Amino acid sequence: MKTLQVELGKRSYPIYIGSDLLNKSDIFKSHIKSKQVIIVSNVIIAPLYLNKILNNLLEYEVQTVILPDGEQFKTLEYVTQIFDKLLTNKFGRDSTLIALGGGVIGDMGGFAAACYQRGIAFLQIPTTLLAQVDSSVGGKTGVNHPLGKNMIGAFYQPQCVIADADVLNTLDNRQLSAGLAEVIKYGLIRDIVFFEWLENNVSKLLDRDKQALAYAIEQSCINKAEIVSEDETETGVRATLNLGHTFGHAIETGIGYGNYLHGEAVAIGTCQAADLSRRLGWLTDVDVNRIIALFKKCNLPTIPPTQLNTNQFLELMAVDKKNVNGKIRLILLNKLGSATLPIEVENELIVQTLENYGKN
Ligand code: NAD
Ligand code: GLY
Repeated sequence: MKTLQVELGKRSYPIYIGSDLLNKSDIFKSHIKSKQVIIVSNVIIAPLYLNKILNNLLEYEVQTVILPDGEQFKTLEYVTQIFDKLLTNKFGRDSTLIALGGGVIGDMGGFAAACYQRGIAFLQIPTTLLAQVDSSVGGKTGVNHPLGKNMIGAFYQPQCVIADADVLNTLDNRQLSAGLAEVIKYGLIRDIVFFEWLENNVSKLLDRDKQALAYAIEQSCINKAEIVSEDETETGVRATLNLGHTFGHAIETGIGYGNYLHGEAVAIGTCQAADLSRRLGWLTDVDVNRIIALFKKCNLPTIPPTQLNTNQFLELMAVDKKNVNGKIRLILLNKLGSATLPIEVENELIVQTLENYGKN
C-alpha cells in the first residue's frame, strides 16, 4: 500500500492506494471517530462492495442510502434522501458518512456531509478510475443544476481517501477509458514526463496491467494532491485541473446529463482546448495530433457532437465557475505539459474552434 498526503494544515488527510484495502478494517476504524455511520452508494456498486464495508463496521450503528445510478440523479432532490435518512435515524453532528462509489456518489455524499448540521466527517471510497485519480481527492463536492454542471456545491475535505485498485476489476471498459481522460489531463497540464509515459504505456492500462494502473493512479494522485495543497479553493493553480472542462461541461449539459460520460466530454473538450491553443500559436499541429492520438488510443471520443451548434456552445460555456463579469475564461495549453491559468481569449478565436475543429 502507498500512502500519499494532501497537505492542508488541520484538514490534511491521507490517500491510501493499493490492493485489498476494502478488507482493512484498521484503516476504516482509524478514521471513524463516531458510533453512527451512514454509507451512501448506488444500486450498481452496493451489491458489489457494500458488504465488504459493512464487515469492517460491525460495532458501529450503520445506516445505508442506496441511490439510483447515473449523472442525471446528481441533484439536490437525491441528496435530500441522504438528509432524510440522517434525520430519521437521529444522526448527530459527530456522525461519519462514507461515500462508496464513483464521482457521482463521491460528489453527492461529500456535499451531504458538508451540509448536514453544517458538516460531519466523511470518507471517500472511490470505485471508478476517474474517482480514484481525481474526484475523490481535493474536497470538491456538489450536484448539478439543469442549467449548469456542478453549479451547487461546497469545498469540503474528507478524513481520508481509500483507493482500492481491485474494485476496478468490475468496471467496464468504457468507464475505464473515461477515467483515463482525467489521467491524461495531469500529463498535459504539468507533467510532460507522465504524458510521454502514457503515450508509451496506454495499451497496458487498457489491458488492466496492475502495475501500470497502480503507477497511473499514484502519479495522478501525486499531481492532484500537490495542486490541492497549494490552492484548496481554486484561487489560482487549481483551475488548471479544468483543462477541457468548459467545452466538456457544455457538452454534458447541452446533450443531457448521462449521455456522454464526464471523461468522454472532457476528452473532446481537451481536444477543442488544444485546437484553440494552436490557433494562439502555443501548440504545433504535431502537439495537437499527439493529444488527439492519445485520446483515440484510449477509445475516447475526440469530436464534438453535431447536435450542439456554435451559439448553443457559447451560451452553455457562459455558465462556468471560472467566468468573471460574464466573460468566458478558459484553461489552455501554453505548451505541451503546461497549462495557463484561466484566461479570456478573443471570442472570434473560440468561434473559430467551435466552427472548424473536428469538421474536416
Ligand atoms: P459515476 O460515478 O457515474 O460512475 C460511473 C459508472 O460506473 C456508474 O454507472 C457507476 O455505478 C459504475 N461503477 C462505479 N464503480 C464501479 C465498479 N467498481 N464496478 C462496476 N461499476 C462501477 O462516474 P465517474 O466517472 O466515476 O464520475 C463522474 C462524476 O465525477 C461527474 O459527476 C463529475 O462531475 C465528477 N467529478 C468530480 C470531480 C471533483 O473534483 N469533485 C472531479 C472530476 C469529476
Ligand atoms: N477536478 C477539478 C478539481 O478538483 O479541481
